[in-house]
Amino acid sequence: MSTASGQTTALDTLVIGAGAAGMQAAAFAGAQGGRVLVLDHAKAPGEKIRISGGGRCNFTNLYAEPKNFLSQNPHFAKSALKRYTQWDFIDLVVRHGIPYHEKTLGQLFCDTSAKDIIRLLLDEMEAVGAQLWLKTRLVSLEKAETGFTATVEREGQHRQLTARNVVVAAGGKSIPKMGASNLGYQIAEQFGLAVTETRPALVPLTFTDGLLEHCKSLAGVAVDARVSCGKTSFDEAMLFTHRGLSGPSILQISSYWRESAGVRVDMAPGWSAEDDLRAWRTQQGKKQISTLLSERLPARLVESLLGEANLTAARAGDLPDKKLRALAERINAWSVLPTGTEGYRTAEVTLGGVDTRALSSQTMEARDLPGLYFIGEVVDVTGWLGGYNFQWAWSSGWAAGTAISNRS
Ligand code: FDA
Repeated sequence: MSTASGQTTALDTLVIGAGAAGMQAAAFAGAQGGRVLVLDHAKAPGEKIRISGGGRCNFTNLYAEPKNFLSQNPHFAKSALKRYTQWDFIDLVVRHGIPYHEKTLGQLFCDTSAKDIIRLLLDEMEAVGAQLWLKTRLVSLEKAETGFTATVEREGQHRQLTARNVVVAAGGKSIPKMGASNLGYQIAEQFGLAVTETRPALVPLTFTDGLLEHCKSLAGVAVDARVSCGKTSFDEAMLFTHRGLSGPSILQISSYWRESAGVRVDMAPGWSAEDDLRAWRTQQGKKQISTLLSERLPARLVESLLGEANLTAARAGDLPDKKLRALAERINAWSVLPTGTEGYRTAEVTLGGVDTRALSSQTMEARDLPGLYFIGEVVDVTGWLGGYNFQWAWSSGWAAGTAISNRS
């Protein structure tokens, strides 16, 4: 890297954020010899990668396609996802000799550790000579006649940088204690780009009063559920917690849920509780309902449902029609009204972000400000749970990185 006179470091590309998207972009931006620097205020790169997937990083999904992403412009992500697919990233993982496996629903995880993915990205950056400055704070970023000038604070000193390209990969707002900040949105706003409403997503739902007490009493119980909000449904596990409901199906639906909307839970999808309760009433009338239901649902849940309905010790044959229908509905069509979410403290991602109308879907470059790129979670593209968010980081990072290196 060349250092211009005084304290100014001249770069081709400055990447802000050493997360998944930023490191991917740096590795591609430097492919033709461009001088690339990635800065981050954290002590280590890829902190969210490290904690992702329970420490094993669900790095992509075999079935990733545009329908797995939310955005005010659902078409925006198509180009990058199509040109740099899950198979491209899987190839990279294979080339680095990282062992992986499919866990469920196409979700690919490292066999050993998420750190393997961080190492892969650092090795790719090193291969093109991209530099990494950690514990570095961006003090200011300005448009210059050609490119940009930045002031950063590193090791207690202010340093000046110039760069033809700036790639903003500062991520979203989730998990502030891991270094998430508003920086990416602030840069967008500073340069006149709109930011759509942001909200926590892939986040547990919370309840108050009786529903909260119900959830608390069942904390730790999990069921395979179909959880719906409006026309959207997810069939995955649901977990009762001390604060409300969580588990993959709830995290998924949280991205679609809005305040005052109801959520419907089928705790035994594909099974009609009403049909079986009716059949049991005539054919197995002497058996306790709790015994019969416990073959289908966790015993603690059954105990709670029957307690609520004053049917704790009831036999199948004694079930009046009205109670039978109410119990069946409680199992197959439980309507709940969440009061909120656990917020950014536990949300896996941020919904919304830099308005895609201001960006090129081919290159991620700001349409009105050549040389300024936004990639990854800071952009208004949010994936489902299951490896989709990292795929967006890889695809959008690749799109910006290759566009930069092709022009250098
Ligand atoms: P990312 O957040 O990774 O990186 C942003 C970088 O910018 C960080 O290094 C940060 O320190 C830096 N930064 C922020 N503000 C700054 C500032 N002011 N100055 C300097 N640097 C700054 N996804 C998935 O597909 N599979 C999974 O298994 C998981 N698991 C998972 C678990 C948990 C607990 C969370 C919180 C999230 C996930 N995700 C996930 C989501 C995934 O981690 C997320 O979508 C990507 O990390 C986004 O990549 P980015 O590079 O855009 O942001």
